Amino acid sequence: MATEGAPPEFKLALDSTAVPHGPDGIGESPFDFTAAPEAMEYPSELGDDPAIALRRTLGMFATGVTVITTSAHDEVHGMTANAFMSASLNPPLVLISIDRRAKMCNLLHEGDRYGVSILGEHQTEMSDRFAGRADEGVPQPAFEMVRETPLVEGALAHFVARVDRTYYAGDHSLFLGHVEYARHNEGAPLLYHGGQYERLGKVEPVVPELPAGLLPPLLAAGEECSFADGEQIVKLGEIGDQLFVILDGAVILRRPGHPDKRLEAGSYFGEVGALSGQPRVSDAIADGAVSCVAVHSDALKSVLAGSPEAAWEMLGSLAQRVREA
Ligand SMILES: Cc1cc2nc3c(=O)[nH]c(=O)nc-3n(C[C@H](O)[C@H](O)[C@H](O)COP(=O)(O)O)c2cc1C
Repeated sequence: MATEGAPPEFKLALDSTAVPHGPDGIGESPFDFTAAPEAMEYPSELGDDPAIALRRTLGMFATGVTVITTSAHDEVHGMTANAFMSASLNPPLVLISIDRRAKMCNLLHEGDRYGVSILGEHQTEMSDRFAGRADEGVPQPAFEMVRETPLVEGALAHFVARVDRTYYAGDHSLFLGHVEYARHNEGAPLLYHGGQYERLGKVEPVVPELPAGLLPPLLAAGEECSFADGEQIVKLGEIGDQLFVILDGAVILRRPGHPDKRLEAGSYFGEVGALSGQPRVSDAIADGAVSCVAVHSDALKSVLAGSPEAAWEMLGSLAQRVREA
């Protein structure tokens, strides 16, 4: 039986765990079989330890980061956890999975309350602190008490849940909590993926900036070209002498150390190569089908030389880009 060796509170009658009135097929059969204890199959490059191989593979599942909190004997205890999920909206239920060696696991029992604070993207130090990895000098976290439950101040969202049921889950315990309080703020979450913290890689739109006096002569001087979704238009490091004006579709500019930029119709790219002859400073990739006008540096030069107004507008447009960079 799966619960053999579990603490007494996890020795639940199996048929009592079934959902009594679920939809067809849900909760009708008790969990009366256990999977055969076969070794897990995984590629040899993941090493000899199946637990490490499993953890590395599970690490591909990107999650947010929470701090689970509770207060016991007038003391606040918190621990970082990414094994948090919504379980039900009606009734409102959430689920956390806690290592049985963690202090938190011994503090939580059915009927107790726990807090869940979903960390924002700037709270990596907070996460490290509650994972027992705090550096010296990290400021003390502040807590707000709601329903006698501590919540980490400054987090993106907060829940207070009362432990409804606990479940044995091998070296972890599951705590199903009935949500009594939920609140959220605006902001970006801290993410965890592949064993490291991540942030949302938001693609920032750039508003088309080619001035009206410059666009028609450039279009007249260039050649139309089209690109399929995902096609590389410009390659980082290559010498290129064309400036591209986007007529239709969108292009992603990818520059190491910078967030991706999404340029749309009316915008341009490749101006550094076309004006200076220097290697490309970013990759440009078609985001969907794209049509452009490619203007060679010679054609660009003659447009600018033939019209001081156009040259002035080009300078203004470049200045605007420098300001936004
Ligand atoms: C990003 C991250 C996510 C974690 N998620 C969990 C988790 O879901 N469950 C768990 O038991 N431990 C998790 N841990 C590890 C605990 O935070 C760590 O073992 C902590 O020191 C336990 O604290 P305690 O023993 O004082 O309760 C996580 C650690 C990190 C850095």
